[in-house]
Amino acid sequence: MTLVRWSFPTQIVFGAGAVAETGSSIVAHGGTRALVVTDAGVRSAGLVLPVERSLALAGIAAAVYDGVVGNPLEAHVTAGYEAFLAHGADCVVAIGGGSALDVAKIVALRQHHRRPLADYDDAIGGDRLVTEPVAPIVAIPTTAGTGSEVGRSGVITLAATSRKTVIFAPRLMPRVALLDPELTRSMPPFMTAATGYDALTHSIEAFVARGDHPLCDGVALRGIELAARSLARAVTHGNDLDARGDMLKAAMMGAVAFQKGLGACHSLAHPLSNLCGTHHGLANALCLPAVVRFNLEAGGDTRARYAAIARILCGTADADRCAPALAELRAAIGLPASLSAAGIAEASLPALAEGAVLDSCHASNPRACTLEDLRGLYRASY
Ligand SMILES: NC(=O)c1ccc[n+]([C@@H]2O[C@H](COP(=O)([O-])OP(=O)(O)OC[C@H]3O[C@@H](n4cnc5c(N)ncnc54)[C@H](O)[C@@H]3O)[C@@H](O)[C@H]2O)c1
Ligand SMILES: [Fe+2]
Repeated sequence: MTLVRWSFPTQIVFGAGAVAETGSSIVAHGGTRALVVTDAGVRSAGLVLPVERSLALAGIAAAVYDGVVGNPLEAHVTAGYEAFLAHGADCVVAIGGGSALDVAKIVALRQHHRRPLADYDDAIGGDRLVTEPVAPIVAIPTTAGTGSEVGRSGVITLAATSRKTVIFAPRLMPRVALLDPELTRSMPPFMTAATGYDALTHSIEAFVARGDHPLCDGVALRGIELAARSLARAVTHGNDLDARGDMLKAAMMGAVAFQKGLGACHSLAHPLSNLCGTHHGLANALCLPAVVRFNLEAGGDTRARYAAIARILCGTADADRCAPALAELRAAIGLPASLSAAGIAEASLPALAEGAVLDSCHASNPRACTLEDLRGLYRASY
């Protein structure tokens, strides 16, 4: 029998007002000078102020780097690390969506890991080079999608390859995640829909992924339930703190679940962001129904798993209802129904498929994918 390893160690504080624990969380983990990493949109929404207030109350000197943008680049890590050094920081507060959180994690990695970032690429086993401590990170999500606040990876587009690259290492995991639904209220409907669909995709891909991980399976199913219950409500009633809270939980649980692995949908989504600038969650939403139909051909246990998902999404344990239910949800939350409706040029499909086949996520897809399969999945989503 092969040995498998399971662990879920992040400390999580959930609830309205949780952001006030930023300062005490930093102190508890030995930080004295914090670099706050965020983006300009999050800062102008006023979400960094309670972080600065909490740090000041705890006697932590803080500087803010707000230069991150969506689908972040290596250059943002470089600039963030320069700000870390300039401030003499010894810890990082990550506040924002997945883009800010991912940059923050790699800035913290940079403190003691100075090789070219490409060396740490998960696709080539780069985690074996993450041998030194990583500066303590407190992560505060302001979107409910990526779950990066409990994840062990940062996703950055590297300058050398222009590819979205997953840098994975257990040491990248934030010490504390503060899940405060008040901070997600200002997210506009499109962003709520797209990020929420990312969360849902994580749980669905993880639940059907290859591998034996009963803990992740349980977390994934509950994550799907929470997203099915509250995603549409969070989009249409942005001030509903219960719906916002459910989506923060769903996002966090999706990321816990995908320790087991992701699948072909994420391999299709990554080049859409790299080459076409599509938001990551939207990219998943555009491709997921086609991936589900493709995976159903694997039959057996995979079909049974999609039947369990269909039971949650539409009350019927019929695997063939899964893809239509996902397309209906996508429409209900106002997202476009196809790559063409999202403005993707048909001429880009071959280059997208070349990118998707190089992406590591489809390695755990329940059905093996060739270049031709991935091209077919883009066509089916077009
Ligand atoms: N590390 C991981 O495990 C992981 C998993 C999935 C995705 N990702 C990565 O995360 C990134 C996407 O992150 P995202 O979907 O959270 O979006 P994002 O971080 O790119 O943010 C999108 C936009 O929303 C704005 N915003 C964020 N919170 C807001 C709020 N509360 N109110 C108003 N505006 C707000 C931001 O300013 C930004 O303009 C991609 O780069 C993706 O590859 C990482
Ligand atoms: Fe994702």
